Amino acid sequence: SLGKKKAKIIIVGLDNSGKTTLINYLKPPKETLSEVTPTVGFKVESFKQDKINFTCFDMSGQGIYRELWPEYYSEAQGVIFVVDSADKLRIAVAKNELEMMFEDPGIRDRPVPILFFANKKDLPYALTESEIAEQFELDNISDRDWHIEASNALTGEGVTEGINWLGAKLP
Ligand code: GTP
Ligand code: MG
Repeated sequence: SLGKKKAKIIIVGLDNSGKTTLINYLKPPKETLSEVTPTVGFKVESFKQDKINFTCFDMSGQGIYRELWPEYYSEAQGVIFVVDSADKLRIAVAKNELEMMFEDPGIRDRPVPILFFANKKDLPYALTESEIAEQFELDNISDRDWHIEASNALTGEGVTEGINWLGAKLP
């Protein structure tokens, strides 16, 4: 109805980075399952934040399902890319997925905003936002708005701050 903003977004990132846990934090409590399990394929979720009704495609990050991500890029008004800040061994794998995303026509040709969550900030030796930004060479992004927020999806730290940034960038 009038005055109600709607937004369709997509959340991607490697398996185990915390995407579903992040979305669960944003959902109404009664709709949240206590145990989060690896996503199979993808799941469409809804939540309301800062007067925006979000529809979110929660994609599986497992290797065999990553090829599904591009199928939904062109519909998304915004992207959330989640990184496990403590998974240093796979930072190069995550960067490679990010580069492929930027090369996909569904993203390349549309200047949708991108929110990065440097998730699992609570873990020892987690990389900081600026360390991840440096690894991912985010300063080279010049064709769209982007933002990186450190988060703990288990407690919600940083989560609303990040989503509110994204919400403000949406049409
Ligand atoms: P796929 O669906 O397989 O792509 O994974 P996902 O990115 O949705 O990850 P999921 O939300 O299933 O979380 C994976 C594991 O990380 C779970 O055991 C979560 O409890 C844990 N986890 C998520 N966020 C955090 C965090 O901020 N800190 C810590 N310590 N653990 C987290
Ligand atoms: Mg998941």
